[in-house]
Amino acid sequence: MRGHDRESDRSMNVLEPHQWRHPTIVAGVPWKNPVGTASGTFQLAACRWFYDVSQMGAISTKGVSPVPWEGNPSPRTAETPAGTVNSVGLQNPGVDHYLVDELPKLKELGATVVTNVAGHSDDDYAEVVAKMNDSPADMLEINVSCPNVSHGGMSVGSDAVALGRLIVRLRGLTDKPMTVKLSPNVTDIVPIARAAVDSGADALSLINTIVGMRIDIRTGEPILANRTGGVSGPCIFPIALGFVWRVRQALPTIPLIGIGGIDSGEKALEYLYAGANAVEVGAAALYDPTAPLRVARELDDLLDSRPELARRLANGGTWR
Ligand SMILES: Cc1cc2nc3c(=O)[nH]c(=O)nc-3n(C[C@H](O)[C@H](O)[C@H](O)COP(=O)(O)O)c2cc1C
Repeated sequence: MRGHDRESDRSMNVLEPHQWRHPTIVAGVPWKNPVGTASGTFQLAACRWFYDVSQMGAISTKGVSPVPWEGNPSPRTAETPAGTVNSVGLQNPGVDHYLVDELPKLKELGATVVTNVAGHSDDDYAEVVAKMNDSPADMLEINVSCPNVSHGGMSVGSDAVALGRLIVRLRGLTDKPMTVKLSPNVTDIVPIARAAVDSGADALSLINTIVGMRIDIRTGEPILANRTGGVSGPCIFPIALGFVWRVRQALPTIPLIGIGGIDSGEKALEYLYAGANAVEVGAAALYDPTAPLRVARELDDLLDSRPELARRLANGGTWR
């Protein structure tokens, strides 16, 4: 370990340095490569010991709310084949802490930062977005899709009219590029996606977790204290990919960030061929902390032999 005093110097890169060859642009924001971390699965204090965070296409940070939230009672995670079910419930130290702590540290390290915004009400989202407007965050990701909170979250993200109203209000509060993170827990995602875009979203992130649960057969009771949670990991990959495909078919020009089950460059590539401009890696980082950077490097190699796709991404375009 190096002997510097500054906290921002205390980080490591277990993978050797890499020159990125294939950047992308998401809603006008340049990413060094098309791979970001997914919100809630990245923590600077932990991840900096495994890789140089400035190497990622972007870092999407844990959802921030106007005041600190404690999240849901434990147990909050359960294993499932090829995935995990979580009911963390947006635990976070609040936007004021984020603005003086995690965000400046990430920017000092040279990261491109996507700030994930959480709320229980329209006023919550508005307060955070207004505070973030003067910050050095590169992009805001409005999470209207968390299945683990009783108000806000998924409820606003499953009602096109309510979502449209919220995004119009947030649009009036910030000039920052705004991606809206959508829920798969709806009958038809297209009208919801369209409402977000028509109301001022610059991009869409899809998907958040899929509602699910596990039951402990010794007690006959749900494992999670919250009873249900959100399923993520490789088991949701084909489902999430299908959502990106459907939204790309319906909305040919909106930038898309594909999320769900990515644990390899090949899976990231499938999202790009489905029409995504970029992807985020989530649950894979919970069992392999270097997964986001490894996926980015695998994808960089795969794009070498796909010059047309690489050219389109570098110019802010997509495969379809
Ligand atoms: C433990 C955990 C916490 C999460 N927290 C958030 C969050 O705060 N905000 C958000 O928008 N998504 C959150 N998510 C959802 C992920 O960002 C991602 O959309 C989802 O897990 C699907 O991707 P994956 O299969 O790669 O994990 C969380 C996921 C997990 C597993």
